[in-house]
Amino acid sequence: METSAPTGQEPPPVRDWPAIDLDGTEFDPVLAGLVREGPLTRIRLPFGEGWAWLATRYEHVKLITNDPRFSRAEVARGRVTRLAPNFAPRPGSLAWADQPDHNRLRKPISGAFTVGAMKRLRPRAQEILDELVDGMVREGPPADLVERVLEPFPLYVVSEVMGVPGTDREQVHDWTRQIISLSGGAEAADRAKNGLYGWITEIVRARARSAGEDVYSLLAGAVARGEIGEEEAVGLAGPLQIGGEAVTHNCGQMLYLMLTRPELMARMRARPGERGPVFDELLRWIPHRSTVGLARIALEDVEIAGHRIAAGEAVYVSYLAANRDPEVFPDPDGILPDRDPNPHVAFGNGHHYCTGAVLARLQLELLVDTLLDRLPALRLAVSPEDVEWRQQTMIRGPRTLPVTW
Ligand code: HEM
Repeated sequence: METSAPTGQEPPPVRDWPAIDLDGTEFDPVLAGLVREGPLTRIRLPFGEGWAWLATRYEHVKLITNDPRFSRAEVARGRVTRLAPNFAPRPGSLAWADQPDHNRLRKPISGAFTVGAMKRLRPRAQEILDELVDGMVREGPPADLVERVLEPFPLYVVSEVMGVPGTDREQVHDWTRQIISLSGGAEAADRAKNGLYGWITEIVRARARSAGEDVYSLLAGAVARGEIGEEEAVGLAGPLQIGGEAVTHNCGQMLYLMLTRPELMARMRARPGERGPVFDELLRWIPHRSTVGLARIALEDVEIAGHRIAAGEAVYVSYLAANRDPEVFPDPDGILPDRDPNPHVAFGNGHHYCTGAVLARLQLELLVDTLLDRLPALRLAVSPEDVEWRQQTMIRGPRTLPVTW
């Protein structure tokens, strides 16, 4: 792919961005280099074809993610350079929809993820979490927090929101675990995906006349009224059912930071009523994902930072880099619990803003509050450098978090 003539500036060189396995919570050195190189650089990721622009400044990230001249639907049609080896966007998936389709798809389910809905969910979520922590405490230390709490909790909670019947939960959780597992291989993950999507199709059919407020009933109602197609309902539900994984790994990083930075833990414990801003600061700071998420394609020529992005060219934004932009966040590499204002973009921006943001926030708060308040002596059971980190993944986090109390 050739770039069109830049407006004023030579196009920057295309840089390879390999998916490096980073331990701990280190900021990706390749991304740091790209940020130093300029506001708009060009990258080539391990899979797909060609190169893409990369925007790393807060201002440009906000601009691109709010601008309808950059399309997700177009990416689904092409072979844009990307991190993921496999690429099979489904109809109905919010991530691949442009307006007005995106609004049409999101409308039926938006009520299930609001602040009000999450308030109603809170007591049940706390109950689920207490049971998991009770089980862990009963067996005594040491324990792997990821296995005992951080992995099952988001899975169980999301099933409440989705409306997975009790009798099917084991099976749905098994499929989800296999889909997100790194060790089972691509074939097992594909089988699990087929299983899960087949099951979702059936449940959406079965709930056609349900008046429930769970996501599967809401989707079934929208299909019955002809607002969305059945295939779209399934494509919409899948990522939500699987989406809890992000909480497991983000919270893993969050707890690792508290367990290895005594001043941070002391602050959390000393002022439990003022943890809110610290959550935001940690969300801003945590390197949530490897490289970048999903690209967008310019539908017409757009000028940014002195470069012309030509129609048809691919663009990535880095929310991670935007969250460390010194123009917006003074001392960006420091964790400042009292940072104010803190307009971070950890959940994205624009109409692709994370559907599960309020749910994720609720779960993170419940997890940290419950673990810190119930286990006053919570600490790592191994030295920090012996904590194992996930490899070859989209979302970064500890693979295990051995703790004692
Ligand atoms: C999208 C972050 C948890 C469902 C996103 C995006 C980010 C993000 C950065 C992409 C925005 C873009 O494409 O420009 C996070 C973080 C989480 C989290 C940091 C946890 C700490 C969840 C949960 C769910 C979820 C729990 C669902 C149950 C989604 C969906 C999208 C999305 C469906 C696509 C939205 C769209 O394209 O319209 N998330 N997320 N996420 N997230 Fe999350």
